[in-house]
Amino acid sequence: MLFKQQALLRQKLFVLGSLAIGSLLYLVARVGSLDRLQPLCPIDGRFGPRSQDEIPLRALQFKRGLLHEFRKGNATKEQIRLHNLVQQLPKAIIIGVRKGGTRALLEMLNLHPAVVKASQEIHFFDNDENYAKGIEWYRKKMPFSYPHQITIEKSPAYFITEEVPERIYKMNSSIKLLIIVREPTTRAISDYTQVLEGKERKNKTYYKFEKLAIDPNTCEVNTKYKAVRTSIYTKHLERWLKYFPIEQFHIVDGDRLITEPLPELQLVEKFLNLPPRISQYNLYFNATRGFYCLRFNIVFNKCLAGSKGRIHPEVDTSVITKLRKFFHPFNQKFYQITGRTFKWP
Ligand code: A3P
Repeated sequence: MLFKQQALLRQKLFVLGSLAIGSLLYLVARVGSLDRLQPLCPIDGRFGPRSQDEIPLRALQFKRGLLHEFRKGNATKEQIRLHNLVQQLPKAIIIGVRKGGTRALLEMLNLHPAVVKASQEIHFFDNDENYAKGIEWYRKKMPFSYPHQITIEKSPAYFITEEVPERIYKMNSSIKLLIIVREPTTRAISDYTQVLEGKERKNKTYYKFEKLAIDPNTCEVNTKYKAVRTSIYTKHLERWLKYFPIEQFHIVDGDRLITEPLPELQLVEKFLNLPPRISQYNLYFNATRGFYCLRFNIVFNKCLAGSKGRIHPEVDTSVITKLRKFFHPFNQKFYQITGRTFKWP
């Protein structure tokens, strides 16, 4: 009898133990998967009731975890179908300007739950070989997203390449175009610094900035130098305006994006008709980097690569003055066309 009771007790304990272990395993698996699929969205829930045209954020919370898997190519066709994911053509493009802060802008916009970035510069519209591959090739380069999200890509060469406005127009005549600019002389020096670093990496020598920016025969600004030409923003913009009305462009202040990113990003959210979701929480100043870095949630934050924020070489002040004087009238025209005024000298 006693033996029978002991056996029954052991059996009960076994069942209870199995149940407890099973529940524990289930909880661990569930928490793990939730953590992967639905990382904390620090910005959700801070706002009042949604208006009808706002994006359902609950679905978008999957963005960080799930889409990352898909971008890495780990998704099965079944998962893509199940989650209704698509590769969409961009609804907005950061067309330039090189060294204006294009990477920072793209990464910061990607903090928004309704935005999905194409990580690489695709160079579809400025590269004839890529362009010849057709629009489906371009679309397949885009990351997976939910249908109500918008995809953004950036290729700064678009801004200065002749053929690009017409090509983009043919794809989507109502696309939104973002241009991030910095004070033109600083931008030109930044451009030079990037090329200089490339030369140094290959153990090559390179000219000084002064020698490239000033024509030694005339002592005037050398307009054949690409870093100078790129900074004549109005000349490039005028080519774009043959295809797109000015309302389709938004000018971002790249200098302010460095020192005070949030208000610049809020202007972009407005331009893109997105609900305001990027907050100060998402941006923190990193004193070691000397720049703002990105905070996606309690565990995931990142700064831009070290190639962003290089130390510029010292440039002769007379050359700087000459360049600033040269850019001045073009800047005035740029302010006039865009309706955005900067305190550039
Ligand atoms: P410098 O290297 O001259 O400082 P792009 O991405 O278009 O190449 O632009 C690079 C510039 O982005 C850098 O130029 C840097 O100043 C600027 N930038 C803006 N915000 C930044 C950030 N949060 N972190 C790093 N660089 C940033």
